[in-house]
Amino acid sequence: MDTKLDPWSSNDITDYSKLFEEFGISPFETVLPEIPSPHMYMRRKVIFGHRDYEQIAQAMRTGAPFSVMDGFMPSGKVHLGHKMVMDQIVWHQEQGADAFVGIADREAYSVRGFSWQKCRDIGVEEYILSLIALGFKPDGLIYFQSGCESVKDLAFELGSKVNFSELSAIYGFSGETNLSHMLSVATQAADILQPELEDFGGPKPVVVPVGPDQDPHLRLTRGLAGKMNMFRIEEREDSKTGRPYLSVRGKAASKETLKELKKRIPGKVKLYEAHVDVLEFSDRAGLEEIVRDVALEFGGYAFLPPASTYHRFMSGLQGGKMSSSIPDSHIALTDAPKDGAKKVKRAKTGGCVTLEEQKKLGGKPDECSVFELMLFHLLEDDKELLEIREECVSGTRMCGSCKQLASELMHDFLKDHQEKRELAREQLDEYRIMYKK
Ligand code: TRP
Ligand code: SF4
Repeated sequence: MDTKLDPWSSNDITDYSKLFEEFGISPFETVLPEIPSPHMYMRRKVIFGHRDYEQIAQAMRTGAPFSVMDGFMPSGKVHLGHKMVMDQIVWHQEQGADAFVGIADREAYSVRGFSWQKCRDIGVEEYILSLIALGFKPDGLIYFQSGCESVKDLAFELGSKVNFSELSAIYGFSGETNLSHMLSVATQAADILQPELEDFGGPKPVVVPVGPDQDPHLRLTRGLAGKMNMFRIEEREDSKTGRPYLSVRGKAASKETLKELKKRIPGKVKLYEAHVDVLEFSDRAGLEEIVRDVALEFGGYAFLPPASTYHRFMSGLQGGKMSSSIPDSHIALTDAPKDGAKKVKRAKTGGCVTLEEQKKLGGKPDECSVFELMLFHLLEDDKELLEIREECVSGTRMCGSCKQLASELMHDFLKDHQEKRELAREQLDEYRIMYKK
């Protein structure tokens, strides 16, 4: 890794630091060196955090199976914020992941009050066409939540391990929250765990690339993965000798499964009512594998907790937040190319009021939405971006030239993307898409 690319860290990443402390999200830097050819967002610190991404990096290196899973609520226009997520899905697919994309029509129905027809129209017309246009391959699975029996069944099962107090602690749900909204939360957890079901190849690392706003769902789902599993492995210590040992515990496991465990685990193993203690075998990974096999053979679950990555949000083109309800704050992937280019020209920059001032003081790329567009979307080449940054800071570059460049690139991107969307429309039949019946 070229550490010179560090300038992007000067962005307001410190604002996200409380996510590390409060929620246990790890800084992405720690896994970056383990990733064979990191995505642009990883190099540029747009992706700033993760949970358990080590297992994904390892799968990419070794060629072991892994999945990428994401969902989109069909709420309105598909825009650059969604493109960020789609790019990451496609990239993981290119790195060998089995890809799953859920269109969260249950969420839109229960939270927004949209009809099924409206969910389907927006799902296809906005999200699916752009996803395919951005390079999603036909071997991935795209489904509407309501069209996917296995997600709905799993959601129901997961629901038995969550109660209202937990939901209100995590999401602030109150007595007014409708039941279907709560079910849509269980459905999202099911989206995330589905790739680990036997029908989809069984337990494996799954990564969910999201913005930090989706982290509550991941915390809930990671907890649920553990609660659903037939067994959990605990590290314990003998109270007399202080010797460490591993204990495989399964409250709901039958006598037979515990006996089977005892049979398969090498070394000294003690069988109890609802657990077995493993006294000599210290290979934790090996033990996990045996435990997983037994759980699956006896009809139980053995989910690995899902991994996740967290990306910074783009700001709105006029400053403030990017919001799909404010057309001038974002660029939709379906905006006419010339309108997109115009929005870039009108966007807020980090430049000074007068040219003289800017030559003297330099601009502020970190507070510039035009620079952000280049950083997030328009410039693939790190070197070129870094040069622009340096010229800006040193006062040798004026905003007009950035706006010119970025608006041309935006125009060309939108034109090309929209042509690809039309091709995608013709190719829809080649894709595995599960619609609501
Ligand atoms: N809740 C997400 C949103 O508001 C959509 C979603 C549904 C999702 N299922 C998911 C995101 C699974 C990540 C993983 O856009
Ligand atoms: Fe932004 Fe370019 Fe102006 Fe710098 S010169 S503030 S990067 S538009």
